[in-house]
Amino acid sequence: MKEQLEKIRQEALDALDHAGDAAELDALRVRFLGKKGELTGVLKMMGKLSAEERPVMGQAANNVRAAIEEKLEQTRLALKEKALQARLAAETIDVTIPGEPVKLGHRHPMNKALDEAKEIFISMGFQILEGPEVELADYNFTRLNIAENHPSRDRSDTFYITDDESVLLRTQTSPMQIRAMEQIKQPPIRVLAPGRVYRKDEVDATHSPMFHQIEGLVVDKGITMADLKGTLEVLIKAMYGQESVVRFRPHHFPFTEPSCEVDVQCFNCKGAGCPMCKGEGWIELLGAGMVHPDVLANCGIDPDIYSGFAFGIGLERMAMRRFKINDLRMIFENDIRFLSQF
Ligand code: PHE
Repeated sequence: MKEQLEKIRQEALDALDHAGDAAELDALRVRFLGKKGELTGVLKMMGKLSAEERPVMGQAANNVRAAIEEKLEQTRLALKEKALQARLAAETIDVTIPGEPVKLGHRHPMNKALDEAKEIFISMGFQILEGPEVELADYNFTRLNIAENHPSRDRSDTFYITDDESVLLRTQTSPMQIRAMEQIKQPPIRVLAPGRVYRKDEVDATHSPMFHQIEGLVVDKGITMADLKGTLEVLIKAMYGQESVVRFRPHHFPFTEPSCEVDVQCFNCKGAGCPMCKGEGWIELLGAGMVHPDVLANCGIDPDIYSGFAFGIGLERMAMRRFKINDLRMIFENDIRFLSQF
């Protein structure tokens, strides 16, 4: 019996030395220590032993079981460590290999120019308002004091949505003046309303049937032309540099009185005249004026108490000056080679 135990110990320790994984380990545990295992088989024969032999053999059997159990545990730990090492080796990454560069996009130059303008006006307390591109003729023309027979209402200039010409694609952001006054009702009103506008223009280097404007409107007590001039100078100097020279030139719009157009002195020739300003020395930037009393009255604001100014800036034009783009079409073509320059 003693030899049998010794044989089991030898075989078990040997076999465990060669176990390759957890499953083999488990099979060996069952083979040697399980209910029907080899050691149990020997213990079952203990009954045949004499009373003196029994405790000696019992002790010997326990020693063998302890030796096998210890070896099992050692092997289990060794296998676990081996598996971990193998996994670490397999999953090694070389952190020194240069990565694939991530291609980051950026904002479209139009959005950049728009965001710059928004920032400037937000800093002056303006709120940003958006409104519909499909607009009522009433808002786009009539309530802006634009006469029934005004040429801008012509079908050759305006995209009408309905045959009765009551609904159209807005030709300017100025209807937002009416919407702002309707919505806010009570001055002070300080609103900036950027958005798309549509006119029946052929596409060329300076025209597109769809373009963007930024409408500005301020209504309060005691607003004068001086406020208009000051506000627009802040914008133009922030956009084109503090040394910019600004000119206000008389003009006519049905919804402002008096009206003006605002030019900036050509930064290329400093007013002498060059191809960039078409020999003018000045570059036209926007239309503006004091809100016509009838327009205020149309919106329920008493022109005897309140006054206001409004302006409309062509955003493409502004972006083209700002980024020295000489063809309007490039702004809409989405050619990456062009866009990635800004
Ligand atoms: N809406 C005018 C245009 O499109 C510009 C403008 C806006 C003029 C506000 C005066 C006041 O030309």
